[in-house]
Amino acid sequence: MKIPQPFQYQGSKRGLAPAILQYIPLHVRRIVEPFAGSAALSIACAVENRAEEYWLNDHNKPLALLLNLIVNQPETIADAYRKIWRNEDDDCDTLEHYYRIREDFNRTNDPKFLLYLLARCVKGSVRYNSEGLFNQSPDKRRLGTRPATMRDNIISVSMLLRGKTVVTGQDYRDVLANCRETDIVYMDPPYQGVCGERDARYFSGISHDDFVAALDGLNERGIRYLISYDGRLGTQTYGEPLPDYLDLTLVELEAGRSSQATLLGRAETTVESLYISRPLFEEMKHIHHASQTADAGTGIKQKHPRSFASICG
Ligand SMILES: C[S@@+](CC[C@H](N)C(=O)[O-])C[C@H]1O[C@@H](n2cnc3c(N)ncnc32)[C@H](O)[C@@H]1O
Repeated sequence: MKIPQPFQYQGSKRGLAPAILQYIPLHVRRIVEPFAGSAALSIACAVENRAEEYWLNDHNKPLALLLNLIVNQPETIADAYRKIWRNEDDDCDTLEHYYRIREDFNRTNDPKFLLYLLARCVKGSVRYNSEGLFNQSPDKRRLGTRPATMRDNIISVSMLLRGKTVVTGQDYRDVLANCRETDIVYMDPPYQGVCGERDARYFSGISHDDFVAALDGLNERGIRYLISYDGRLGTQTYGEPLPDYLDLTLVELEAGRSSQATLLGRAETTVESLYISRPLFEEMKHIHHASQTADAGTGIKQKHPRSFASICG
C-alpha cells in the first residue's frame, strides 16, 4: 500500500520511511514520535500494522491540532479544506486569497487555515518570523492539493491511525519523560547547521546539548529509540554529530540526488544519518540481516560496516 500523506511538509520522512522501518521490529507496543511533523514514519508503520498504539507530538500546537483533526475528525477537516480551497469569491485573486488566509491563521491559529497554507505554500515549507507569525509565500504555480485528493489522503490516514493514536503539542522532553520501556521512539528533530542563521523553518528549534542530555536519560531508562539527525552532501557534513558515549550505531541512508548539486553539474547525493540506540540495535541484530537488505538495493550504506557485518555473523 502507498504511504498516504496528510499534507506536504518540509523534511517529511515519507520517502525514507521504508528504509527506516528496517530498523524497527515488526511488532511494537507503541511508536512514539516526539517531533511528528507530518507523522510520515508512524503512518508508514501503520500501513504495515506494526504497532498497537501511536503517540504523535509536535511542539507546533496548530500543527498538532491539525494532526488530531485528521486522525479523529477527518470529515470535518476535509470539508473545511474544501470550503477554504474553493475560494467562493470568484472575483478574488488566488494569491490575494492565500494572503487573506495567512492573516486569518496568524490571528486565530486555527489548524484548518494551516492545512490550506501547507497545501499552497512553497514546497510545504513552513516559515515563521521572529514574532512566530507564519510568513511563507504562496507557490505561484500551484493552487494546492485539490479537495477531492485531500479528502482521500485525510480519510486514509484516519483509517490507519484512528482509535489507536494520541496527539499532543508538548515539548519533546515532556514526551520522553513519559515514555515506557515497551515503546519505540522515533525522533526527527529540526535540522541544525544547514543555514547558520536563526532557524525559521519550524516554529521552534532545540538545543543540541539539551537533546544529548535527553538521549542520555533514555539510555539510563533502557528505552529503545532511533534518530534522524545530521547528514552530509557529498563530502560536506552538516550538523553536530552525536557523542560516542551515547553508544549509538550510525546508519547512513541515501536521501537522493541534491537539486543544488544537480544544478552545479555534480553527482552528489544527500545522505541522512539514522542513529540507533544500543538496546534496539542489539534486538535487531537477532531478527534482521541488515547487510543482505543493503545489498538488495535499499539504498542503505552503513558507516560502520564491521559492526553490521557482525550482526549477520
Ligand atoms: C524535521 S521536522 C519532522 C518531520 C517529520 N519527521 C515528517 O516526516 O514530517 C521537525 C519537527 O519538530 C518540531 N519541533 C521543533 N521543536 C520541537 C520541540 N522542542 N518539541 C517538539 N517538537 C518540536 C517542528 O515543529 C517540526 O514539525
